[in-house]
Amino acid sequence: MSVAVAYANIALIKYWGKADRVRNLPAVPSLSLTLAGLRTRTEAQLIPGEEDTVTLDGRPAQGRPHARVVALLDQLRARAGSDAHLAVTSHNEFPTAAGLASSASGFAALALAASHALGLSLTRQELSAVARQASASAARSIFGGWAELLTSSEHASPIAPAAHLDVRMLVAVTRRGEKAIGSTEAMLHTAETSPYYDAWVASAGAMFARGKSALLARDLKELGRAMEHSTLAMHASMLAADPGVLYFAPESLAVMHAVRELRGRGFSAYFTLDAGPHVKVLCPSSEAPAIAAELRALPAVLELLEAAPGDAAELIEAP
Ligand code: DP6
Repeated sequence: MSVAVAYANIALIKYWGKADRVRNLPAVPSLSLTLAGLRTRTEAQLIPGEEDTVTLDGRPAQGRPHARVVALLDQLRARAGSDAHLAVTSHNEFPTAAGLASSASGFAALALAASHALGLSLTRQELSAVARQASASAARSIFGGWAELLTSSEHASPIAPAAHLDVRMLVAVTRRGEKAIGSTEAMLHTAETSPYYDAWVASAGAMFARGKSALLARDLKELGRAMEHSTLAMHASMLAADPGVLYFAPESLAVMHAVRELRGRGFSAYFTLDAGPHVKVLCPSSEAPAIAAELRALPAVLELLEAAPGDAAELIEAP
């Protein structure tokens, strides 16, 4: 049995939209931070028979989740020249029951575990390209620390190690168990119906360049501002879709305003939101305890997780 682990990543500069739907190439560049603690553990084992079996968080996967796993396995089988089938078992070891995005860590761990089970020894770039075709954000979770996924490349690349900036990402969980529209569907709908989508794509390159140079200069204030600009511009593009895609809950807005208020009081706290209602807050680790205490005190916050920059995906057991 091959066992791999991978960690969730949060995009500071967002990916939203596809340049090529079939190959799943992003329309815009993105920049992310892989987070410690938010871990997926995936086992892959060769089995006799004509079908792959997929168990996600203790339940047999069906429908689209099953098909996405099989599609990734098909990519690997084609590379290995194999028609072997696999049993895949994956667990999200996130310290919460809330629906935090787990596809990035999940597909990264799957690419690593399943490629080894099939006897392939792929480079990180190759693994990242395989994971990207399943879910573009997963390409970034192959790497630890700060990573980028460009529009001109098949794979993500590391930009800086986890220790490059001494920060924390605070994840303010605002709602439980609600199934919103998935990111793949929502970004295609945005591209098809939003009059702001082209403007989003046209401006994304400059946002990425701003975020990346701030990161390289270790300028957290500038990085935080670029991060807020990217998330609000992304959400603006989807709000203008028809019908509009609305991931903000009242609680999300309450946390966003609280973060701006904390900035008014001198804290370096910046927010970002993905395809869901939770708010992720970037801050220097020295300020994290005080900011976490302020956020925990908000009625809008059900639970607050504190994540440090994390490591790359890794194989923890191999046959
Ligand atoms: C808002 O990677 O889930 O989290 O490639 O269709 O699987 P697919 O989309 P996915 O989209 C992530 C969108 C985002 C921003 C980001 O992570 O960059």
